[in-house]
Parts: sequence; structure tokens; C-alpha cells
Amino acid sequence: MQAGCDDNFYFRSHNMSNIKACIFDLDGVIVDTAIYHYQAWKRLANQLGLNFTEHDNELLKGVSRTRSLEIILELNGVVKTEAEKTELASQKNTWYVEMISKMQPDEILPGAKEFVLACRAAGIKTALGSASKNSMMILEKIGMDKLFDAIIDGNKVSKAKPDPEVFLKGAAELGIAPENCVVFEDAIAGVEAAIAGGMKVVGIGSPEVLGKANFVLSGLSEMSLAKLDEL
Ligand code: BG6
Ligand code: MG
Repeated sequence: MQAGCDDNFYFRSHNMSNIKACIFDLDGVIVDTAIYHYQAWKRLANQLGLNFTEHDNELLKGVSRTRSLEIILELNGVVKTEAEKTELASQKNTWYVEMISKMQPDEILPGAKEFVLACRAAGIKTALGSASKNSMMILEKIGMDKLFDAIIDGNKVSKAKPDPEVFLKGAAELGIAPENCVVFEDAIAGVEAAIAGGMKVVGIGSPEVLGKANFVLSGLSEMSLAKLDEL
């Protein structure tokens, strides 16, 4: 009887120390930039006379800038040369940067900064794992650029989610094994990337969409250090 209790205690303690690093996606987890991406793509679509709805915008979450443009073109049955695509993506980015350069700390999603700080206070490493090449600018604008032990963004990876490269690089830079990492993700491709990398994953959004995650929350305001034990 006594031995059984001890075993349970050991099992719980072991689980408690299992997660040594939290890796956060940026767009949709720390901040909600999807609206800015949408407005900039919409402006480009209007200029080109293409259809692009907020519903279509869902397909672009977690997807690279180049691939996002290709999806919009494909939805409209339009073909562009590589040079034209580079120019169009650059134009969209100029408009997007105009908007995010005005971001403020009050645009941090509820609970995000608090949970990152709680992890750091508990000795859990923190990393950013984002497809965005504008990650640093956003983190600086919201005052969270000093809160990550590693920042892996779109400038540091060559393979987009669902490839696990972004998260594996984050784990490697932190010096933590993938099985001791948990990823926080709002995009299906990001959840798949975390699983492909051998990591745990908490979905941020709806369980219907992110069903492959270990569990799904509506936001980081629902997350706590205690919930890490459930992973
Ligand atoms: C991801 C967003 O974080 O970054 C995508 O979810 C976006 O919607 C991608 O396309 C690339 O962003 P950026 O800032 O490099 O154009
Ligand atoms: Mg995201």
C-alpha cells in the first residue's frame, strides 16, 4: 500500500518535471495579427481585382508569406511569374509593416505575457517559433523581445510548418530534448509541425479545428504551470 503511494508520487513528480521548455507561436497565440495580415492581403487582392474573404484568410494562418500569396492566386485561378510574386509579396509586406509598426503592448492577447513570465520564474525555458519574418518588430512593439531564451522566426527557417524545423531549431537552441518541449499553436499546420517534431502541443483556438493537440484552450489566459503536468 505504502509502496503504491510512493510509486504514484514518483510518477507525478516525474511528470511535473517533464516539460522543460515552452515554445510559442506568435501570430494568434501571443498577438492577434491575423486582422493586419487580412487587411494587407485584401488591399492587394482589391488592387489586382481578386476575390479574398475573411474565410479565405483562415487558410493563410501559419503559412509563409510566399505561400499565402500563392493560395490567394490559386483561389482565383490566376498565375503569376516568380518575379511578379516577389513584387506582390513585398508590396503586401510594406502595407503590413505600416500597420504592425503602430502596435502597442495592449495588443498582447490576454494571459500571454503572464504565462511566459510564469514559465521563466519557474525555470522553464521559453522560445518563439514563428513563420513570420516580422517577429522581432512585433515583439519589440509589444515589449516582449527580452522574454524568450531563443527566437526562431521566418528568417531562420527554410521549411514551413507543418515541417517541424522551426520548433526543432528552437529546442536545439535551448538545449532541450523535443520530448521535453511543449508548443503553443493556433494553426493546424503548427500543431502538425509540433507533433512531427516529437513535441507536446497545446492548441489555442477551437477543439474542432485543432483536435490533434494534446489539449485545446481558447487562449493562454486559461493556461497555468499546473496544466503542464497534464502533458
Ligand atoms: C505566420 C502567420 O505567423 O506568419 C501567417 O500566421 C503569415 O499568416 C506568416 O503569412 C508570415 O508572416 P510575415 O510577417 O513573414 O509575412
Ligand atoms: Mg499562428
